[in-house]
Amino acid sequence: MIVSIILLTLFGWAIVGHGALIELGGVKANTATIGVTAAVELNDCEEMIKKENHVISIAKWSQDAGKRTGIVTTSRITDASPSGTYAHTANRRWQDDTSVKEAGQNSTKCRDIAYQLIKEKIGKDFNVILGGGSGMFLPNGTRDDLGSEGSRSDDIHLINEWVNDKKAENKNAQYIWNRTELLNVSNNTDYILGLFSEGYMPFNLDRNVSLTPSLEEMTEAAIKIVSKGNGEEDGYFLFIEGGRIDQAHHLALAHKALDETVEFSKAIQKAVELTNEEDTLIVVTSDHAHTLSMSGYPDRYNDIFGTVGDDVDGNMILTLNYANGPGYKAPGHNLRDDDTGNHHNCIFSGDKDYQFPGIYNLTAETHGADDVGIFAKGPWSHLFSGVMEQNVIPHIMAYASCVGSGLTACCKGPE
Ligand SMILES: *[C@@H]1O[C@H](CO)[C@@H](O)[C@H](O)[C@H]1NC(C)=O
Ligand SMILES: *[C@@H]1O[C@H](CO)[C@@H](O)[C@H](O)[C@H]1NC(C)=O
Ligand SMILES: *[C@@H]1O[C@H](CO)[C@@H](O)[C@H](O)[C@H]1NC(C)=O
Ligand SMILES: *[C@@H]1O[C@H](CO)[C@@H](O)[C@H](O)[C@H]1NC(C)=O
Ligand SMILES: *[C@@H]1O[C@H](CO)[C@@H](O)[C@H](O)[C@H]1NC(C)=O
Ligand SMILES: *[C@@H]1O[C@H](CO)[C@@H](O)[C@H](O)[C@H]1NC(C)=O
Ligand SMILES: *[C@@H]1O[C@H](CO)[C@@H](O)[C@H](O)[C@H]1NC(C)=O
Repeated sequence: MIVSIILLTLFGWAIVGHGALIELGGVKANTATIGVTAAVELNDCEEMIKKENHVISIAKWSQDAGKRTGIVTTSRITDASPSGTYAHTANRRWQDDTSVKEAGQNSTKCRDIAYQLIKEKIGKDFNVILGGGSGMFLPNGTRDDLGSEGSRSDDIHLINEWVNDKKAENKNAQYIWNRTELLNVSNNTDYILGLFSEGYMPFNLDRNVSLTPSLEEMTEAAIKIVSKGNGEEDGYFLFIEGGRIDQAHHLALAHKALDETVEFSKAIQKAVELTNEEDTLIVVTSDHAHTLSMSGYPDRYNDIFGTVGDDVDGNMILTLNYANGPGYKAPGHNLRDDDTGNHHNCIFSGDKDYQFPGIYNLTAETHGADDVGIFAKGPWSHLFSGVMEQNVIPHIMAYASCVGSGLTACCKGPE
């Protein structure tokens, strides 16, 4: 049996290293490095370019086994979680050559993440690349199809490079930048690059639904392309990220964070509908938690963005609160004064940009240290149980789909 893998992950925007990011090469790394061993410290350009320090991800193991591969996110496609499939870098922030230079490094020697995606081996072989971040791919002074300016300073137009490389290799490939094009992708397209915004894709609640696709729509388009396979039912590896849940939490925008979670859930539902659990392992997890708490005995049908009564001083309290963040209120502040005029004690359900309270005044709410859930369906899903380190995840997926150089369900021992 040929087994395909879909990894759906939420949050993104993670600090890479212990306690964060799913290490897609199965090896623990130093904070904020990607696709390299612990021999590479943050910002160490010399060590980063040594092949022996590179950690190869499950995306490449899958490509080597003849499978189709793809990455999808609502964040920038060069951000920490998606780049864990293809990049090798000493700093997750080196997403364009300009940021490599600003760190005092040689950007021709230590290539930025966008460059690696388009010009280097793993990224070149992706059948599907869908997300935000067009700015990282365009020279300053040039604009993307939506009119936003690029941020590269090396004059390399990476979108044109991708299109021309695919043309030279005689591949059925298409670059797209809006929803209409995504829904109209031709059935014989084998490679797709879709960049739908200059930076992060808009929050779903701010999205122009005729211009920008949803995560669910990107998921459907991606599965259609990778599931065609390279030959006889070769299977595929697909990484899909609901990247903006985390970013909404950092801003204390609980309303948007929960809405993004609903969108993530729709993407999972779509993946389940379009696949067969006999041959597709779907793994759903996140790279870390946030400090949001849900408390105060809310009644059934109580609005989740509403109040659960008053505190001992008669000041209103909410169901949703953060331990810290930009929603900090001065002592004695009565949340009732923030009422935006909605009724039934659901005062904040009508305000998608209300910043929910945090105990400490920080410009960005922080990650939490809780263990996060991991849910799996399909072949070998029972192996995801109990408490495990996040770098174990790709090893189990590789076992199930018979890729990589370790022991697999197909009984191939180590080489
Ligand atoms: C930057 O690196 C490239 C490639 O290794 C090299 O050719 C060039 O001389 C370097 N530039 C400087 C200023 O060191
Ligand atoms: C734009 O790129 C050029 C090199 O192509 C560089 O000289 C210039 O400083 C860049 N401008 C900005 C605003 O980054
Ligand atoms: C849909 O795709 C076909 C080619 O596959 C193209 O001819 C047509 O113009 C596209 N329509 C839209 C609305 O983009
Ligand atoms: C792709 O094929 C399906 C049926 O196989 C068809 O319904 C659909 O219209 C086709 N789409 C395009 C863009 O040709
Ligand atoms: C949404 O995008 C379409 C297509 O670009 C545009 O015509 C429309 O005005 C936009 N709607 C809003 C509310 O911005
Ligand atoms: C989407 O892109 C296509 C091709 O560039 C363009 O013809 C169409 O007007 C765009 N749609 C929107 C809604 O902007
Ligand atoms: C939180 O800190 C910022 C920056 O010092 C300040 O402008 C703001 O007033 C503070 N918030 C409160 C409620 O004190």
